[in-house]
Amino acid sequence: MAAGTSAASIRSANWRHSKGAGNLSNVHLIDHPLIQHKLTMIRDKETGPKDFRELMDEISLLMAYEVTRELPLQEVVVETPICKTTAYTIAGKKVGIVPILRAGLGMVNGILRLIPTAKVGHIGVYRDRETLLPVEYYCKLPGDVEERELIVIDPMLATGGSAAAAITFLKDRGCTSIKLMCLLAAPEGLAAVEAAHPDVDIFTAAIDERLNSHGYIIPGLGDAGDRLFGTK
Ligand code: PRP
Ligand code: URA
Repeated sequence: MAAGTSAASIRSANWRHSKGAGNLSNVHLIDHPLIQHKLTMIRDKETGPKDFRELMDEISLLMAYEVTRELPLQEVVVETPICKTTAYTIAGKKVGIVPILRAGLGMVNGILRLIPTAKVGHIGVYRDRETLLPVEYYCKLPGDVEERELIVIDPMLATGGSAAAAITFLKDRGCTSIKLMCLLAAPEGLAAVEAAHPDVDIFTAAIDERLNSHGYIIPGLGDAGDRLFGTK
């Protein structure tokens, strides 16, 4: 912490879920102190795959709490040991989680701990190392995917090509309710996804500075898939 900066002032500046972040109307920045703390640890190049996986899991759980904030509720009658009362349960469409392979896999379990009945579809997209363009190589989705509230997950939103392609793929299959959740986003990726899919809300725990000439997020955390699976 910089000398003279109080923890309270940092906390009050950071403790928010702000919509319209980065001047883009569909971007939600979720920067709760617990998330910021864990993000700092996950960025650290000394953090090995075991801790990296655990941190991604914990951050995903914390973010899922905000991403699902708008889920509709329905009134139900419940009988407590004292009396009958009206209470609420989740209503409307069921949830589907769609990780973009590989790195999105690291976010699945954290979300499933909050929404254990969600179904999980998988879309395999990798970035061509030369062109940085997305290449699809796998797809397996729940049979009723078009009826679900979908959360597409990928820790890294860099050029935005992979996420935009995955969302297009889902829309081509009739999906109409889609959110995108990532850990780190570059301004370039946020702008690209919002331009391609203005109907999709994007949730991120940080908006970094920019992309480098290899399409990596600066400062970022490096290659998320390699760090998650130890494949460097
Ligand atoms: C990473 C990341 C995203 C993509 C982001 O995947 O997990 O899917 O890059 O980059 P973009 O926004 O420029 O498309 P990568 O292609 O490295 O594949 P991996 O998950 O198999 O490592
Ligand atoms: N994919 C990653 O894993 N990291 C980046 O910084 C950009 C794309």
